[in-house]
Amino acid sequence: MRLILLGCPGAGKGTQAKFITEKYHIPQISTGEILRAAIQQGSALGKQVKEIVDSGRLVPDEIVIQLVKDRIKQPDCHNGFLLDGFPRTVDQAEALHRQTSIDYVIDIDVPEEEVLTRLTGRRIHPASGRIYHLLYHPPQVEGRDDVTGEPLIQRTDDSEETVRKRLAVYQAQTSPLRDYYIHFKGGKDHRPKYIKIEGTGSVDEIKNRIFSELDKVRVS
Ligand code: AP5
Repeated sequence: MRLILLGCPGAGKGTQAKFITEKYHIPQISTGEILRAAIQQGSALGKQVKEIVDSGRLVPDEIVIQLVKDRIKQPDCHNGFLLDGFPRTVDQAEALHRQTSIDYVIDIDVPEEEVLTRLTGRRIHPASGRIYHLLYHPPQVEGRDDVTGEPLIQRTDDSEETVRKRLAVYQAQTSPLRDYYIHFKGGKDHRPKYIKIEGTGSVDEIKNRIFSELDKVRVS
């Protein structure tokens, strides 16, 4: 089971990734989380990418391609994996498909106005990646993670100004991937099944839509 989750910033990729990886017992590979962890640790990679990530631009293709190539060779990926936030350019997609085949591309579609509210209200627990929202999914105790009680943080790239920048970057550089997968030219045997999901509604509704579509294509 090798999947890609596509969708603009705030579409709910990270939220839904948790359900999919739990159900299919596969690791979630989030390039955003890998980059944020590197920044947090102050590693050479983190220093190289911090300003780019904070400003909402994309990290150069060669860096993220190498990260993903190395990650999917790890033993926990033998039975599959879920890519969250990768690929984000056509060049990244082509590099990925030269390396491995993908079964499903799940594209979560949410209008921009909705995404802005979702991202400016998002809070996260950095150690676990648990995701909250001030209105839609508040923690039991304000500002604290439900499981550990540790403080929640707001991502530096979740300010309104940077979210708008990220959305513009998405439109220019990532949205062409939609057509890339609809008209995939990498050969019939290796063509991933493209599944578009209407991403507005409750978290549970979207989860059910994803599982129901996956069940349909898996038996067809
Ligand atoms: P990354 O971490 O991948 O961020 P993103 O794609 O912008 O996506 P987000 O994590 O912001 O949103 P999401 O879709 O996961 O939404 P979530 O589930 O959290 O990338 C960050 C940066 O790293 C990039 O800008 C770039 O610089 C760099 N980078 C990463 N990958 C790269 C690559 N491949 N190439 C180059 N650079 C790369 O949900 C959002 C909020 O909405 C949450 O608060 C959640 O609780 C809430 N929510 C979720 N679902 C619902 C719902 N149905 N109803 C109401 N609220 C909901």
